[in-house]
Amino acid sequence: MHIHVASHPLITHKLTVLRDKNTHSSVFRSLTTELVTLLAYEATREVRVEPVTVETPVSTTQGVMLSQPRPLVVPILRAGLGMLEGMVSLVSTAEVGFLGMARDEETLRPTVYAERLPENLTGRQCFILDPMLATGGSLIETIKFLLARGATDITCVCLLGTPEGVQAVEDATVGFNVTLVLGALDEKLNEHGFIVPGLGDAGDRLYGTV
Ligand code: PRP
Repeated sequence: MHIHVASHPLITHKLTVLRDKNTHSSVFRSLTTELVTLLAYEATREVRVEPVTVETPVSTTQGVMLSQPRPLVVPILRAGLGMLEGMVSLVSTAEVGFLGMARDEETLRPTVYAERLPENLTGRQCFILDPMLATGGSLIETIKFLLARGATDITCVCLLGTPEGVQAVEDATVGFNVTLVLGALDEKLNEHGFIVPGLGDAGDRLYGTV
């Protein structure tokens, strides 16, 4: 697995405000969008393009456009939905598929409660969005889902991750072309399955259910 942890001061600044427990939901949502736009820049570094000819007002020149089939963006509901706007503002021609997943608070195992994805993902570049990579269970389940439908090129974008979660995803994806882009790698996973220091429950903070 290729791992990229952001080190840009603007990303760290925005993450610091997100971590603050006093940051209100409306600010949390807009900052998440800004952060994802910055992370998406890195996450799409290998997005496929093809050469095209374009006529400028002055002459003809060669450029590139995103290739077909279009990239697929998959936010993991609920919290991943908060990252969608930032991603599609950068990759405006992407198709969006949805996967709803909830983690059992006792076992920490994820269960799928909604799925709306293309049947055939052969040859598609896929981008998974989930703010939190805690145990890694939700991300691993989503990656398996996409691989089973033929995806061979998967990039995961997360705001925060734990060393334990990153290791679990790495172990589960040996031999596959998977990239992980993180806003920050935090200290650890605690006994309740929360990221430390983290930012709390991203879904609750995005949607004001704290
Ligand atoms: C949270 C979070 C991730 C998952 C991370 O979702 O948004 O999807 O847990 O944990 P893991 O790495 O241990 O699987 P949650 O299940 O709380 O659902 P929500 O997005 O609806 O809040």
